[in-house]
Amino acid sequence: MPRRPADALFAEPRLAACYDTFDGERDDLDHYQQILAELGARTVIDLGCGTGSLAVRLAADGLAVTAVDPALASLDVARGKPGAERVTWVLGSAEDLPALGADAAVMTGNVAQVLVDEADWTSTLRALHAALRRGGALVFESRRPEARAWTRWQAATEATHLLPGVGRVITRPVRLEVDLPLVTFEDAYLFADGTTLTSASTLRFRSEQELRESVTAAGFTVEEIRQAPDRPGQEFVLIARAN
Ligand SMILES: C[S@@+](CC[C@H](N)C(=O)[O-])C[C@H]1O[C@@H](n2cnc3c(N)ncnc32)[C@H](O)[C@@H]1O
Repeated sequence: MPRRPADALFAEPRLAACYDTFDGERDDLDHYQQILAELGARTVIDLGCGTGSLAVRLAADGLAVTAVDPALASLDVARGKPGAERVTWVLGSAEDLPALGADAAVMTGNVAQVLVDEADWTSTLRALHAALRRGGALVFESRRPEARAWTRWQAATEATHLLPGVGRVITRPVRLEVDLPLVTFEDAYLFADGTTLTSASTLRFRSEQELRESVTAAGFTVEEIRQAPDRPGQEFVLIARAN
């Protein structure tokens, strides 16, 4: 089955250019920098790197980073960031990676939940395993279903953002469907020139047991599941090692 195209928020150039502003302060990434330092990782895969916020930070720390994403518009934003030339950017998905023998692979920003199809999820985990060295670490987050993040999204209202070089952008929630384990939401983006773009996303909420089983089946040993310090009680941050 062909893979779903990336959501417009990541793949449409005008929206991808706004993503970093919509996403705000990225203190969630501090934890990943800390974990990679703890693990002593020197070569890292950033899968679903999006606009490259983590990849350029890690490269600035001296790590060798291969950053992968299927959304060209997001990679174009990433490539324009200071220090981007130190990162190896790959347009594609985990299956496009060679056997890098990397020390670690990360998926931040709940990339794991974007992989809604179980066959895609399994294939992604296997491909990451093949790209890591034996003993290499897999580190990713996924929202805890029991924290019911969608109830907060249901309460979301229109917001106005002022973006440098873009102007005013109004974001407006237009749809939210909860059909567990899937949650679909759609937002409209109203630009000052009268253009309205929309982006729909579907996320899969996996239980701790489902995450443990899928990661184990792909050839990893789960070492630890932590909290995300910036989102206590809301996320599984899973750390596993390639067997
Ligand atoms: C919520 S964004 C997170 C981006 C980035 N990791 C961050 O923390 O800012 C999800 C990303 O997953 C990417 N994505 C979608 N399908 C993917 C796939 N099959 N493999 C890898 N990444 C994918 C999207 O293009 C998007 O950039």
